[in-house]
Amino acid sequence: MRVYVAGTGRCLPPDVLTNADFARMVDTSDEWIVGHTGIRTRHIARTMKNVDMAEAAARAAMENAGCTPADIDMVVVSTVTPDRMYPALACDLQNRLDLPDVFCMDVSAACSGFIYAVDVAARRILTGGARTALVVASEKLTATVDYTDRTTCILFGDGAGAAVLRGDEKEGGGWLGSFLAARGDDGAALHCMPGGQLKMEGHEVFRFAVRVMPEAIEKLLGSTGHVISDCKFVIPHQANLRIIRAVQRRYALPEEKVVVTVDRYGNMSSACIPIALDELNQAGRLEPGDLLLMVGFGAGLTYGAALFEWGE
Ligand code: COA
Repeated sequence: MRVYVAGTGRCLPPDVLTNADFARMVDTSDEWIVGHTGIRTRHIARTMKNVDMAEAAARAAMENAGCTPADIDMVVVSTVTPDRMYPALACDLQNRLDLPDVFCMDVSAACSGFIYAVDVAARRILTGGARTALVVASEKLTATVDYTDRTTCILFGDGAGAAVLRGDEKEGGGWLGSFLAARGDDGAALHCMPGGQLKMEGHEVFRFAVRVMPEAIEKLLGSTGHVISDCKFVIPHQANLRIIRAVQRRYALPEEKVVVTVDRYGNMSSACIPIALDELNQAGRLEPGDLLLMVGFGAGLTYGAALFEWGE
């Protein structure tokens, strides 16, 4: 049996903050932000709740997959910025989409969350617990951002990405595996207290990212028997263009293979990877047989990678 991506979707809230907007709020400049992060704009959910974005992305993914609510037998939502502590955002989403009484839960693995959520869904499908899973990563990080702290506020945006994963009897292809890990002893480097604001040691997180992304890539590809040059696209978590370029340089990857959205959307935590995936899919840039490598890191500190072979 295999598990493949049957459809993707995304939601970017309509309001946009530019670097010029930040230069009016804190002591910063477009030149500093672009030079140190690569970010130019990010979308902000001023009027939308997290569940509104999750619903829009999920509906788009279901439409793209050609499936109805009755087809969905599992919902996993990755979020660290739910509208409420509980119930799970997945249950709110189930209610919005009028889904049957199915498995619904949230995953809290921060920016690595989509890769974690896909792993949960894929393994449940492969062991017969579900046939069609809705996996959504939806984040309203700006609700936790301190807009007086110039070292963090410029980095983050809001958004949601979704994928419908489906199991069938074909052999090979689809989800080829993942590597997932965490280092809880580094957890203080990026955290948020309940009802509080995001706190980050930027240098520490930067060093962690540059160290663990290659580790995740190599452990995953070592277990699946692939090499990175086999991959059509690498979709890294979008925290900072300098981190992305460091990974690109390490493997001497051509620029066009490494997907970048951070310039337009900033860091939307776990929503970054599925939004980038949906952009590739909607632009018609994915063909059957293409290998896609996703790699991320985030609060936890968590990290991980997943490998897919595209195609129905
Ligand atoms: N505008 C202007 N100056 C700024 C600034 C801003 N927005 N933010 C910080 N600075 C200043 C600092 O105060 C510091 O000034 P000083 O030298 O007078 O003390 C100087 O710029 C350099 O700061 P530094 O922290 O060394 O910059 P940096 O190049 O490391 O970039 C980050 C800072 C946060 C962009 C970078 O460390 C980073 O991206 N880290 C990873 C964060 C991440 O990935 N987070 C999400 C994980 S999922």
